[in-house]
Amino acid sequence: MTIKELVAQMTLEEKAKLAGGADAWHTAAIERLGIPRITVSDGPHGLRKVDDSGDIADLRKSRQAVCFPAGVCVASTFNRDLAYHMGQLLGDECLAEDVDVILGPAINIKRSPLCGRNFEYMSEDPYVAGQIAASYVKGVQSKGVGVSVKHFAANNQEKRRMTVSAVVDERTLREIYLSAFEEVVKAAHPDTLMCSYNKINGVYSSENPWLLNKVLRDEWGFEGFVMSDWGAVNDRPSGVAAGLDLEMPTSNGINEEKIIEAVEEGRLKEELLDIAVEHILNKVDRYTGFMAKLNGAAPVQKEKPVFDYVADHKEARKIAREGMVLLKNDGALPLDKDKRILFIGEFAKTPRYQGGGSSHINPTRVISALSASTRHTLVEYTKGFSSTKDIVEDDLIEDAVNKAADADVAVIFAGLPDSFESEGYDREHMRLPQCQNRLIREVAKVQPNTVVVLHNGSPVSMPWIGNVNAVLEAYLAGEASGEAVVDILFGVTNPSGKLAETFPVSIKDTPCYDNFPGNRLTVEYREGLFVGYRYYDHVDMNVLFPFGHGLSYTTFNYSGLNITSGDKCATISFKIKNTGSRAGAEVAQVYVGKTGSKVFRPLRELKGFEKVFLQPGEEKEITIQLDERAFSYYCVGAHKWCVEPGAYTISVGSSSRDIRLRGDVWFNHEEYDIWQYTRDELPSYYFGDPSSVSDSEFEKLLCGPIPESVRREGDPFTLCSTVEDARSNKWGARVIKAIELVGKSKGLLSHDNNGMFIAMINEMPFHSVVCMSGGKITMDTAEAIVSLLNGENVGENLKLLGLSGVDAITSKIGGVEGIKSKMGDMMCHVKDTADKAKKDIVKIKEKRAAARRADEEEEDEE
Ligand code: BGC
Repeated sequence: MTIKELVAQMTLEEKAKLAGGADAWHTAAIERLGIPRITVSDGPHGLRKVDDSGDIADLRKSRQAVCFPAGVCVASTFNRDLAYHMGQLLGDECLAEDVDVILGPAINIKRSPLCGRNFEYMSEDPYVAGQIAASYVKGVQSKGVGVSVKHFAANNQEKRRMTVSAVVDERTLREIYLSAFEEVVKAAHPDTLMCSYNKINGVYSSENPWLLNKVLRDEWGFEGFVMSDWGAVNDRPSGVAAGLDLEMPTSNGINEEKIIEAVEEGRLKEELLDIAVEHILNKVDRYTGFMAKLNGAAPVQKEKPVFDYVADHKEARKIAREGMVLLKNDGALPLDKDKRILFIGEFAKTPRYQGGGSSHINPTRVISALSASTRHTLVEYTKGFSSTKDIVEDDLIEDAVNKAADADVAVIFAGLPDSFESEGYDREHMRLPQCQNRLIREVAKVQPNTVVVLHNGSPVSMPWIGNVNAVLEAYLAGEASGEAVVDILFGVTNPSGKLAETFPVSIKDTPCYDNFPGNRLTVEYREGLFVGYRYYDHVDMNVLFPFGHGLSYTTFNYSGLNITSGDKCATISFKIKNTGSRAGAEVAQVYVGKTGSKVFRPLRELKGFEKVFLQPGEEKEITIQLDERAFSYYCVGAHKWCVEPGAYTISVGSSSRDIRLRGDVWFNHEEYDIWQYTRDELPSYYFGDPSSVSDSEFEKLLCGPIPESVRREGDPFTLCSTVEDARSNKWGARVIKAIELVGKSKGLLSHDNNGMFIAMINEMPFHSVVCMSGGKITMDTAEAIVSLLNGENVGENLKLLGLSGVDAITSKIGGVEGIKSKMGDMMCHVKDTADKAKKDIVKIKEKRAAARRADEEEEDEE
């Protein structure tokens, strides 16, 4: 029997059931036909397996696993082999824990340093993200375990991620935001993709036929299945038709019914549901081999590796060492162990090594830099600041300054507190806590050998950069972060990480500063292609540290560039020599730019890189193939990738702003005569500043009008409206109060997840509230809420909702258990009392206000 034949035996109900999850982490089993369930678990930088039984509401209850470096750090290794190896390790951990699909890698482009989830993402550049992610995927899948590449697509912020519509022109989508996914799909054939919550140009990703069927399957040849992000489904039957195969987590039957109804009423063709089911079953078979069993063959015995925490921890350390980036070094590093060394800052004792949200790993062992340093020498330690606060504590600073004055070198372990960056909300600014900035300045005044080690998932501003001797960007480097930092500080490891993102001087310099995170309904990607270094180079702006930058304890010399051109492709070769006295690794980067292009293009774009390890004095020849795509732009008029004839500049360098070799390549093919756009129409993109384009220019780029960005007064509420939308409504205030009360009264808010919980409740559309409440909030209730907000049948709706008193409504909206069950799945800590929750909220508000004030002060100072 084939899978097609099996699908033919399934009833409509069985098919609808299989197209939705069984619970939070499993697909449905169909016992009658011998179809088993499969298990999915969060990644990407470790396994967050939540047990079937037990309190899943607490993050700490996920199984222990090795916390590898987060995406940002893996990408900055620029080492494909290492990413592949990490994938293999994760694959083995999945096998050991009976997990079939790991939910990662996460490869959305870092449009702004403020995106709360940047630490999970890889790069501002689609080439790096695509290359590193493809290797990771190949590594995981080499073990017979699947991945879910997420979040497809244009999910570049946390603010209103469940509803916002990314307004973005097709060329930008193709060249920047889809390109890494395309590379992974074509090169690594991932088993699954996870669609994002947001809309793209007005259409939810979960029901976007252009995205899921046309681009992903027809053009790129994707053969796996697409699952929804958790709660991302809007209209399930439309999703089936558009190519969304699996809804996760379960909708508790609601959407199964909708699928059945739609098929029975002829609104959804059953063949489309069959296709979705086939896609899922193909992969269920890959992991379980159930078809062989159905066909009478002996079941294939799966290898079950032993999960060796100690061995994997060592590997996590190796990856961390290669991902950390030495940003500045005026000679203080590597440290001399015979000198008097002072470590300052709580992160030396308790490193920040991962971010908050669904990727949170429950690690086996975390070794701090302070304890790792004892292998080299005895360092002195002082606290300097409290790592969870944004409050200047003068006594701590004074003590640190006094001790620093007596030491030969002071190493400050700085970084962002957990509450500053997380899934669920974006950062409000780009700075470190004020107490840390002050401390660094004061210490640097008395200690010329001040070294700063940073623990953060996304760029921070460094107003003190000119005063310190050295800066090591440790990123969120996983559970072995402390050891890896010490390896680099003491020169056991020669740093070789490179930035996969630009560090701008100020958040105000960023190309989407005026358009991030957008308005209520939309976020306009007005800067177009000019993301990250593509923008800073275009406007020739000074940056703090450029894309591709990263220092070493040795030096490298580039020579002998040779370019051989083919038919719209080229082979680049050159030599690199280690001219210093230590062994080390260099990431050679190849950028392509078009001279005299008819379409606007970034000055140069990364199209190749190679990491090369060299002994002192050793020289190697590097060869990089540039295929047709490396020279192409996406022509919207022709609906295809095109290569313009003429000259291209090839720049080979150690960073995007440290170009060592230059050459040209010339293509003579016939000119395309294809409609695109002109300099007169799009001056900002051709030669102006793409961070501030006029409406008319943006409309030209979009090939259509700019959609409304806010709800118009009088627009009816729908199931897509959010709690936030309802705020100003007469009845909305009461509905919201009741919803919030449910959360607070049962202690759904806790120290770790306040921001995330508040953001989720606030920004969740009513249709998601229904599914995410585990079925406790019924569709009838949601519809009654919407109808009430629209001022319809007020008496009847009030009665139905029991809105006369808060107690009545809290019971009506499903009670605590409903929300709690989903929030549990959504990795909240459920604890404590309403009192604590209230205090936490007050604290958060105060903290935010203080942060805002401090930010303003800092800006005044600058
Ligand atoms: C996140 C996904 C995650 C899923 C399951 C969602 O909120 O966006 O990345 O895999 O939850 O935890």
